[in-house]
Amino acid sequence: MLTAAPARRLSQKDLLSVATLAPEEILAIIELAGRLKRAPDSLNGALRGKTVVLVFEKPSLRTRVTFEVGVHQLGGHSIFLDHHRIKLGEREAIKDVGRNLERWTHGIVARTYKHKSVLELAAATRIPVINGLTDLLHPCQALADYFTIRERFGTFEGVRVAYVGDGNNTCHSLLDGAAKLGLPITVVSPEGYEPNSRVVNEAMRLAQDSGSEIRITNDLDAVAGATVVYTDTWASMGQEDESEERAAIFADYQVNEDLMARAAPGAVFMHCLPAHRGMEVSSGVLDSGESVVFEQAENRLHVQNAILAFLVGGATL
Ligand code: CP
Ligand code: NVA
Repeated sequence: MLTAAPARRLSQKDLLSVATLAPEEILAIIELAGRLKRAPDSLNGALRGKTVVLVFEKPSLRTRVTFEVGVHQLGGHSIFLDHHRIKLGEREAIKDVGRNLERWTHGIVARTYKHKSVLELAAATRIPVINGLTDLLHPCQALADYFTIRERFGTFEGVRVAYVGDGNNTCHSLLDGAAKLGLPITVVSPEGYEPNSRVVNEAMRLAQDSGSEIRITNDLDAVAGATVVYTDTWASMGQEDESEERAAIFADYQVNEDLMARAAPGAVFMHCLPAHRGMEVSSGVLDSGESVVFEQAENRLHVQNAILAFLVGGATL
């Protein structure tokens, strides 16, 4: 039974960042996600009578579909609101949007440009707010990715992550997760595109407790020994105007067959998607047997169902 003692709940109302979760909370999410993946019906009444609203300023395939499908699987109802409908912070102050939504609904998934916007929404409301990606962080992605890594290797022992490319939102949440879980992670970026120094410093601080090793470098040789090679787009949503300039700067950082050959034997390739074939990743690597990108995409559903069950459904583990 999922409600068996000792009951474990998440200690916070919201899920805005991996860095604010305790390591055992990350493991509890991963554990519940695994149980939901094996037995999808085991919590199908968890959100009965509940409505979750998705407030998205940016485009989405995976996050929108997995949250909408997930809410439905758990017995709830979802409403999707895009930026053109509500104009978060323009038509109405963010905190007022939140104060309305909490009167009718039981949870908010927010995808915003500014990270401050999800913080404001969470602070203004009594219902859970889940970060579905901001310019700074992508916590649901990283939690699903660590689930995928453990599923693939059966353990976190011996896992070494090399993130190659832009030090962006996905990279930041992967750093947070590695620092919490005690995994070594190396970020290899062109000069000037390293991850945010505040995120790195906090990850390094957390790593002192967990035993994780965090390395930030411009040197592609640092991929040696990696069991996971991860990349993401060179120009994130909101940076479309920089695409051409970035393509030239990042050209040497493409994850292709040559770069994969420099990682550990049997290394897997990961990407949060959407991927840009021939840019940050070659088609050969994306379509290879080492690529787990669609497992990652599937696992968004199971991990987010666990998050929804904990935060909105009141599940305990
Ligand atoms: N990986 C991810 O978050 O994909 P979407 O932008 O399509 O939601
Ligand atoms: N870094 C990417 C992730 C997309 C899921 C972006 O923000 O566009």
